[in-house]
Amino acid sequence: MVSGRGYKDWQCLVQCKRSPSTEATNSSSITRTGFRLSTHTAVKMLTSVLSFTPEMAATVTEYCTNSSNDVSGDMKELWDWTVGEFEDSDKMSSPLQGATMQFLAQLLGAKRILEIGCYSGYSALAWYEATKQTNAEIITLELDPKMIAASRRTIAKYKMADRVHLIEGKAQDSIETLTGTFDIIFVDANKDGYETYVKQILDKKLLSPNGLIMCDNVFARGMTISTEANPHLPGKVRPYWTECGKALKRFNNFCKNDPRIDTVLMPVYDGVTFIKWKQ
Ligand SMILES: C[S@@+](CC[C@H](N)C(=O)[O-])C[C@H]1O[C@@H](n2cnc3c(N)ncnc32)[C@H](O)[C@@H]1O
Repeated sequence: MVSGRGYKDWQCLVQCKRSPSTEATNSSSITRTGFRLSTHTAVKMLTSVLSFTPEMAATVTEYCTNSSNDVSGDMKELWDWTVGEFEDSDKMSSPLQGATMQFLAQLLGAKRILEIGCYSGYSALAWYEATKQTNAEIITLELDPKMIAASRRTIAKYKMADRVHLIEGKAQDSIETLTGTFDIIFVDANKDGYETYVKQILDKKLLSPNGLIMCDNVFARGMTISTEANPHLPGKVRPYWTECGKALKRFNNFCKNDPRIDTVLMPVYDGVTFIKWKQ
């Protein structure tokens, strides 16, 4: 998974960082404190989750989930309900992602959050719970009538209506109606819309000065990187994710080249892009 260029760039970074207090050999470096850093091993450590078999990915995710903050009983209950109710419940964020969202919302002291793609309201509940102190407003967008009904149920059941506002319809149209700024914007809807949504957000200056845009599934199960990247992707869903991958490749090029923003694509989960205003 690590391209020749990526490998070289990383090696350069290591060598620049360790100079002048370390000495280099061809494949490893020894610091003055005697610590041996094998670049080969370290590069392996950087390899993304895509090289995991589904079983390995499940084991690692379980370990990380158990080693991270627990999500609430309400979130566990909603998770179970969604899995039981919808065949495509893999669209829902994982408990570990939920814990990550809550961590970030509190770290950033978010007072206003925009979510593009509500599904059954699991991530909206995560944002809601994490922002009790800041009393944040959460605006979430959803198109599918079935998921609008599920989200409305979630909002009522977990008493979120005071701060969670669901806007029905196409995200592109809904974003046009928004004003003010958001401290976190979670982009998690149709993958061929990501570029449009982020352009709209930037053009309308909907992101607060220190805000964070977080875009999920930017790997498209690996298809963004290469159609060879994920031998474990089932054939049934491969054409769908291949198309998503093409759109997300364009999106990644846009992020990399837009002079208004800083961007990092993290090899976690199914690829998560973080965007902030350039300062
Ligand atoms: C991946 S799911 C969202 C998952 C949710 N954020 C979570 O973490 O549990 C994507 C959702 O976006 C919705 N969606 C897809 N295209 C959309 C569009 N053009 N406008 C609004 N919502 C859309 C889908 O119906 C689906 O419910």
